[in-house]
Amino acid sequence: MRIVEINASTNYNVYIQQGLLDSCGDITAKLVKGRKALVISDSNVAPLYGERVCESLRRSGFETSLFVIPAGEESKNPENLIKAADFCIDSGLTRSDAVIALGGGVITDMAGLCGALYQRGVAVVQIPTSLLSMVDSSVGGKTAVNLSKGKNMFGAFYQPSAVLCDTSALSTLPKAEYSNGMAEVIKYAVLRSGKLLSLLQDDADKVIDEIVEECVRIKRDYVCADEFDRGERQFLNLGHTVGHAIERSSNFGIAHGSAVAAGMCIVARACANMGICSEDTAKLIEKLCVQFELPIDSEIDSETLFDASLSDKKREGGEISVVMIRDIGECYLHRTTTDFLREILSKGRGGKV
Ligand SMILES: NC(=O)c1ccc[n+]([C@@H]2O[C@H](COP(=O)([O-])OP(=O)(O)OC[C@H]3O[C@@H](n4cnc5c(N)ncnc54)[C@H](O)[C@@H]3O)[C@@H](O)[C@H]2O)c1
Ligand SMILES: [Zn+2]
Repeated sequence: MRIVEINASTNYNVYIQQGLLDSCGDITAKLVKGRKALVISDSNVAPLYGERVCESLRRSGFETSLFVIPAGEESKNPENLIKAADFCIDSGLTRSDAVIALGGGVITDMAGLCGALYQRGVAVVQIPTSLLSMVDSSVGGKTAVNLSKGKNMFGAFYQPSAVLCDTSALSTLPKAEYSNGMAEVIKYAVLRSGKLLSLLQDDADKVIDEIVEECVRIKRDYVCADEFDRGERQFLNLGHTVGHAIERSSNFGIAHGSAVAAGMCIVARACANMGICSEDTAKLIEKLCVQFELPIDSEIDSETLFDASLSDKKREGGEISVVMIRDIGECYLHRTTTDFLREILSKGRGGKV
């Protein structure tokens, strides 16, 4: 089994192994005193894996209950958060019991927040089932639901007690969702290069456990350096400033991963055109995106994207941070004005969709 230790304000392990769903009970039993577990999942994942997880928990002596919300980003809202918390009460969950998040990022974010708030915090075990949630959302302690006026606006930093990545669950993940997750994987490869880059150039499906492990290690390093997102962690926003603008301009019709891939390629081409990185570097990033069926540009015009990026929550008083690419494995944070973003948008276009 692959294990990545996270030493944040609390210490916990990320376990990566095929078939791990069947041992979630054993791992949870070692971490929590209570013997009640509330599994929170969505309407796609619960029918596939809910019973297996509950059975493993029961084998380890847990009394289980399962709370299911409709699949999709719209479900990540305060109403479902409160329903989940009410269900915790109905299930008799006490402070020594556990919330188990079983699903993609929507579930790991919402169940994480539910665990953080219920009785001021119970143990949360994250069982991410999408590639994106394995490599990104379940590690690092950011939990949230969306408000009608903004995504992820209502949340908390709350580290889980453990994260269990059963990569065999990826076999049922829709192909487009797999590609979405791959956009974040490519982001880590651009940030750090090295092993991950060569793993991606192999037959990625065959080395997916190693890929997940490597991504978790990279995310771990950024999270441990800056748990509360005040500096280092902003590197993880590579491709996201433009990506968020693409998501917002498309009214969230373009998926996050696709938007981030296009955003990363726009920044890479702009960096190449400004002489900050080489043409080859920008081409390699485009090639990786194409390899995983991700877009390398957007049809939305630059003015629309610029307007959308002005309302990005990361903008602080006319200043923004953009992650720039000098080379693969050599990125830097550029604190700049929104005018510079206009330049990136004008110099970075032209990739074929
Ligand atoms: N907390 C963080 O640090 C962080 C980081 C990145 C993203 N996020 C959040 O994560 C969310 C996106 O995550 P996501 O892409 O996993 O979305 P998601 O949870 O909506 O999952 C995508 C789709 O795949 C389905 N699915 C998941 N696993 C499956 C499986 N094994 N088999 C079949 N279907 C499966 C889901 O039901 C859903 O329909 C967003 O809400 C985003 O804000 C959080
Ligand atoms: Zn992202």
